[in-house]
Amino acid sequence: MSQTTNQPAVNIEALKSEVRAALINQKSFACPIAMRVAWHSGGTYDQADGSGGTDGATMRFEPEISDDANAGLSIVRDMLHLVQKKYPQISQADLWAFAGCVAIEFMGGPMPPFKFGRTDDSDGKNCPPNGRLPDAAQGADHLREVFNRMGFNDQEIVALSGGHSVGRCHAVRSGFDGAWTNNPLEFDNSYFKNLLEIEWKPKDWDGNFQYTDPTDTLLMLPTDMALIEDAAFRVHVEKYAADQELFFKDFSAAYGKLMCLGCPEQCDPSAEVPTASAKTIAGEEFREVAMHGSLGLMRRFAKTADVHEVEPTSGRNALHKAAFWGHIEAVRYLATELKLDPNVQDLMGDTALHDAARFGHAEVVQILLDAGTDLHLTNSAGMTPRVLAIEYGKDDVAERIGAAG
Ligand code: HEM
Repeated sequence: MSQTTNQPAVNIEALKSEVRAALINQKSFACPIAMRVAWHSGGTYDQADGSGGTDGATMRFEPEISDDANAGLSIVRDMLHLVQKKYPQISQADLWAFAGCVAIEFMGGPMPPFKFGRTDDSDGKNCPPNGRLPDAAQGADHLREVFNRMGFNDQEIVALSGGHSVGRCHAVRSGFDGAWTNNPLEFDNSYFKNLLEIEWKPKDWDGNFQYTDPTDTLLMLPTDMALIEDAAFRVHVEKYAADQELFFKDFSAAYGKLMCLGCPEQCDPSAEVPTASAKTIAGEEFREVAMHGSLGLMRRFAKTADVHEVEPTSGRNALHKAAFWGHIEAVRYLATELKLDPNVQDLMGDTALHDAARFGHAEVVQILLDAGTDLHLTNSAGMTPRVLAIEYGKDDVAERIGAAG
């Protein structure tokens, strides 16, 4: 996943882990529902007037919050609450959309193309009216009406419907009951295979009209059945049932598009990505060689790079990188000759001294103390460099820092 300059400084892999821990834990496996939250926030879009869509995170407000179609979705938004607090630079709108994408990946599906840049509305003024999401009791005409309004064609409607390869219906929420596949936590093309291979019949029960298989365990909604009843839809169902790779490719593209409906252009993964300037490339190379402690190469790249620049995804500068690995001469060059600011804190709040202290690089610690590092700076765990050294059993380093303070 690429990031451009207007993207927030976020370590994507770390954010993914946080989302994973929030959605998948001993209490729950909330990936299907996270994916549905994201789809319902995008699925309100109307291309005629640009209203609705994932921007604004309007599902927090009336009337959207109490749209019947959104029953039961607030639980995922609450699950993501702590992630939201930890990453205040990301909007809720971005977090819901991102969580939906990574949930698909966690379930074995493709990672849809994604970019940050959505903002949160402060009230429900821009909420779309309720009733824009599809009604499962209807057929092909209704599907076209709803999805064409968002800007999707037949092929995209079928690909997106493959989202029902995971999750299930809950009678208490929607009046429908059951899962579409035998592995509802695995994202694959079995939804399309089931549509074609199983003999579906109306379910004999008191709930909403739905279809069931001969063993009365799985379900298909009337809108799902419309995909095989309508000849133009059916062609795509057949293609996806036969070719999972094609399904993943088309689903990924359509879901990525769904996630940036109603959003500023910066959220559009297909928009042109500005190419990195020569200076940015030199900066990246400079930090890379600092990490390896290659003094000769550092001197060479320093001629063209902005040596003070921090890495956008981690907030770390060359001093962090050299200090982490204990490269004494590289740290001396950076701190004393190039005068890099030793008080720069990365996204975890660590200064270069935190890094050196954690690993007990005593000589590097001394150089950073001499360079005037502020000893009171705390990282996101609330630790100063000295406390961190004690935590990691580097008593000599802790003493050295204590003496300097
Ligand atoms: C084509 C029109 C669609 C209709 C009529 C529809 C309808 C429904 C209904 C009635 C439920 C059951 C809700 C419940 O009882 O908890 C449901 C669940 C679900 N839908 Fe759809 N849906 C549609 C499209 C989509 C799309 C485009 C996606 C994603 C790409 C999607 C993903 C899901 C998922 C993952 C669940 C399961 C959630 C859970 O396990 O709690 N749906 N859908």
